[in-house]
Amino acid sequence: MVDWALDHVPADPAPSILEVGAGNGNLLFALCEAGFAPGRMCGLDYSADAVKLARAIASAKQREQDAEEHEEDASVKGPGAITFAVCDFLAEDVPALDGVEGTATWDLVLDKGTFDAMALVGQNDQGVNIADGYPSRVGRVVKPGGYFLITSCNFTEEELKAKFATAETGLVYHSRIPFPSFSFGGKSGNVYSSVAFHKQP
Ligand SMILES: C[S@@+](CC[C@H](N)C(=O)[O-])C[C@H]1O[C@@H](n2cnc3c(N)ncnc32)[C@H](O)[C@@H]1O
Repeated sequence: MVDWALDHVPADPAPSILEVGAGNGNLLFALCEAGFAPGRMCGLDYSADAVKLARAIASAKQREQDAEEHEEDASVKGPGAITFAVCDFLAEDVPALDGVEGTATWDLVLDKGTFDAMALVGQNDQGVNIADGYPSRVGRVVKPGGYFLITSCNFTEEELKAKFATAETGLVYHSRIPFPSFSFGGKSGNVYSSVAFHKQP
């Protein structure tokens, strides 16, 4: 996903990046290491424990970075500048980044295993699948001209296209990340599907 972002997301001006269901923050830390601006990144998770852990890892990584740099170069523009917030993406608005305007929509929205986790929750009391509302919420937070990149181990590429490339989301299929395929019982497939969608400018 990091390589895909490096290849496709313009670096200037620094893109705003939202990860839905960031867990321990690994993907955002990797993007930070790859050169994306941490002050423009936000990781959401509805688990307060996950957010606490991601913040603790970010602080530890920042301390390591500061210790490696000469004191006069020590900067907060490392992993410590990533925002991690508790938010149920299916029910709440995404919090704005402090001091950064225009964060209601994002240049790059990432999902690594989160839609899979939502789909496992099943149905609410009214018999509606919890994950059904997800694609439209994603569509709302992708900036026109921006991207949504999702990696799933539950949904095939075709299923992801059917769910996310719709008139309601405003997203269109952009590209896929190729993974090695396997064959079993005469059928072939991939363990993961990684699909990118683009919102028309
Ligand atoms: C399979 S984990 C993936 C974590 C991370 N993206 C990674 O790759 O390590 C899915 C994450 O989504 C979070 N999650 C599930 N439903 C959510 C929701 N409605 N709003 C925000 N986060 C959610 C879970 O708490 C969990 O941390």
